Amino acid sequence: MRILVIGSGAREHAILAALHGEGSDHELHVAPGNAGMGAVATLHEVDAAAPSAVVALAREVGADLVVIGPEVPLVAGVADALRDAGFAVFGPSAEAAQIEGSKAFAKDVMAAAGVRTAHARIVDSAGQLDAALAEFGPTYVVKDDGLAAGKGVVVTPDLEAARVHALTCLEDGHPVLLESFLDGPEVSLFCFVDGEEVVPLLPAQDHKRVGDGDRGPNTGGMGAYTPLPWLPEGSVQTIVDEVVAPVARELVVRDVPFSGLLYAGLAMTSDGPAVIEFNCRFGDPETQAVLALLESPLSEALAATAGGTLAELPPLRWKDGAAVTVVLAAENYPASPRKGDVITGADRPGVLHAGTAAGEDAGMAAGTATGTGTAGKSYVSAGGRVLSVVGTGTDLAAARDEAYRLLDGIEMRGGHFRTDIGLAAVEGRISLPGA
Ligand code: AMP
Ligand code: GLY
Repeated sequence: MRILVIGSGAREHAILAALHGEGSDHELHVAPGNAGMGAVATLHEVDAAAPSAVVALAREVGADLVVIGPEVPLVAGVADALRDAGFAVFGPSAEAAQIEGSKAFAKDVMAAAGVRTAHARIVDSAGQLDAALAEFGPTYVVKDDGLAAGKGVVVTPDLEAARVHALTCLEDGHPVLLESFLDGPEVSLFCFVDGEEVVPLLPAQDHKRVGDGDRGPNTGGMGAYTPLPWLPEGSVQTIVDEVVAPVARELVVRDVPFSGLLYAGLAMTSDGPAVIEFNCRFGDPETQAVLALLESPLSEALAATAGGTLAELPPLRWKDGAAVTVVLAAENYPASPRKGDVITGADRPGVLHAGTAAGEDAGMAAGTATGTGTAGKSYVSAGGRVLSVVGTGTDLAAARDEAYRLLDGIEMRGGHFRTDIGLAAVEGRISLPGA
């Protein structure tokens, strides 16, 4: 198949690596991609969020399937434009992408579908703030309604910290969303969804805070692991039955059927799974771990979803064992990541690139010795989350060892990563509330 992947993160690199690893002779293209993806795909410098530019590229490469990674092009209607032009697309319409793009839409769909989620209230003036905070906390959950990607969210037991964040958002002219705190370990469950048809992938857990022990600000995600040894058997089916299937059905009822990947971000509360957020796409960094364990050909699942034949897809097959992904972030991520730092040792299997650009030796063949004395190409950092390493193993402890061994071989000035991805699960420190 000729497959065009849209996006430039480690998630898209993981998708390309999985497609490349199928052993079929797929022809892979990516736009805009990044320097690390050149070994598996042809890069195209195209604005991923511009519908007409993506359609023109799909025509130029003769794509049999277009896979859209990030939410921005989905919300911008890139999938609609491609479908209108006759292409098979993995990714929802702009309308269905509102499940991620609009918190109000998501809450409305969940209420109609009877799905458990946090109570929420929009506060748009400082005068309402104190009474609203008293009603919701502690613990306080304060979200900047003008921002996405988890970065405008503060979860804190500290009333003053909650007030300061809320007032900052209001001063910036953004409404503030207050939510009830959902207590319980978090699960990311990805599902292929085609109308009412739902096929879950392995459950994973993200690590959102920048520092070890869940300290510091929220980020896009610093690492993830799969499967979840602490998650009771049957939980994935419960999440499908109580959360994902009712929402998929409600979207069909509203004539906004979802086609693509529906990501449920959940807290496993004492009342059952409750939704923290929906995303209309694969999650990053969970995808890097989940796809490392997928044994079935990814292209078949993506094509079946895009083609409306998901019901006929054979059950997904998974490798035994576990996978762990750890993100290497740039100095000062998430506040104001520094760019341009030289990265060495990043050109090897298990390393997935995100915020990287080619180093000075760009143009030399992969595997050639470089001026830095390290085998492989050299790169410089070009974003906050620079790359992900993925370790697999017979169990979570072994997968962790492998991931951190890979990271040991990579150097970047100011680079930082969490050392405890998956550790609480290995040490048996995660349990469900009331268990
Ligand atoms: P969001 O951008 O809404 O996904 O929020 C980012 C992160 O903040 C989530 O992944 C959770 O870790 C945390 N969070 C958000 N909302 C809640 C909530 N209502 N209760 C507990 N934690 C939350
Ligand atoms: N891992 C969080 C996200 O992709 O939104």
